[in-house]
Amino acid sequence: MTALTNKHILLGVTGGIAAYKSAVLARRLMDEGAAVQVIMTPGAQAFVQPLTFQALTGNPVRLDLLDPAAEAAMGHIELARWADAILIAPASANTLARLAHGMASDLLSTVCLATEAPIHVAPAMNRLMWQNTATIANCQTLASRGVLFFGPAEGAQACGETGAGRMLEPEEIRDALLTCLHPDARSSEVGSTTPADRYSHTGRTASRSTAGRLSGKRILITAGPTRESIDPVRYISNHSSGKMGFALAEEALKAGAQVTLIAGPVSLQSAPGIRRIDVISADDMLRAVLAQAGSADVFISVAAVSDYRLEQVMDQKIKKNNDHMALSLVRNPDILKSVASLTERPFCVGFAAETEQLEAHARAKMQSKRLDMIAANHVGQPANPVFGTDTNSLEVYWPGKHGHAHIPAASKHEVAASLLSIIAERLKARESHDDKCPPGVQR
Ligand code: C5P
Repeated sequence: MTALTNKHILLGVTGGIAAYKSAVLARRLMDEGAAVQVIMTPGAQAFVQPLTFQALTGNPVRLDLLDPAAEAAMGHIELARWADAILIAPASANTLARLAHGMASDLLSTVCLATEAPIHVAPAMNRLMWQNTATIANCQTLASRGVLFFGPAEGAQACGETGAGRMLEPEEIRDALLTCLHPDARSSEVGSTTPADRYSHTGRTASRSTAGRLSGKRILITAGPTRESIDPVRYISNHSSGKMGFALAEEALKAGAQVTLIAGPVSLQSAPGIRRIDVISADDMLRAVLAQAGSADVFISVAAVSDYRLEQVMDQKIKKNNDHMALSLVRNPDILKSVASLTERPFCVGFAAETEQLEAHARAKMQSKRLDMIAANHVGQPANPVFGTDTNSLEVYWPGKHGHAHIPAASKHEVAASLLSIIAERLKARESHDDKCPPGVQR
């Protein structure tokens, strides 16, 4: 059994020379036990004959939206419902543009509009087409709606140029799809990334519309800085604005979750419907979090918790009598680690701000804190100031070889929606895995 066994995969083949590889891809999907139904665009038919796919899949290939005979057999809406997942490989610049604009001008784009199934695309095009700002904008639009990108890879292109834009190999696409449909499928191999992760300018981004996706889930979020008193008038803190955590809280609410937001000292309003608990210090935050963690399904620790506090807080204002002064600090509790160590623990998501070796440091943090997921960003670079801004981009990692998704730069609300989509998918995968596992079998 694999994540593709008995799955209905709708394989969209669009106009590009890489279409010849899609025949192998169809075969690889079927090797995993998937039922494959191919839709070809007119452009694809210029490269490969429909008969090739019909012979391989055993199903007539669907070519036209307005084909009375085919529609009578299985209408496009039925086709959209039939699919457990849609995979478009190769995905041409034209198809990405049509999907981004919500066109329903042919069968493939219409089915994509009419489906609730996740959509995955393996782009393939000339490197300049891939780098074109129009394509980038289209990809970002699609990514923000939850379309998952596999690749493209870099290398020699059919047009004679070299660069990013090659379709991933069929086996790489199959593996990426296996991961997406069952993210635990390869969880024994920790620490490396797929070609899809490396090459894509939008990365594999999961941000399908979150509406209702967290329905009934109880989500606990920490946000903002903490403040550690030095004396009655001074404190140690950091630049965290709380915007990312507040955006996550709002988006989680929109996604149907019951949200508890534990906020450090910030000057932000939270949306009605969010249960907000205001705290000041790391200790206050720990207490508030531990009081809520037992009843949470998901804990997202966004707060920039002060790592240290004063060994002894002065009762009176410290006078400036000396030229030098030293403060003695002690480590604060690690709130996230404390929650992740609970026996009955929620799904734990950490944040990691890193200045170098992003993946290595983030994965190490995820392992040492025993997290289910970590959202990392590069900080301290002029291009990514993060603190206080309204935009962000994230690299999201979870255990397993393919456990990575890139959330491209966007508003913190869009990034929050994307992250929640990834969390919802992982939760779902985990729940369905738990259902299948006899008690006592480790996830
Ligand atoms: O270890 P580091 O501070 O880099 O880890 C960052 C993650 O851990 C964030 O998710 C942050 O909210 C959480 N954290 C915490 N308690 C601390 C320090 C960090 O919950 N004392």
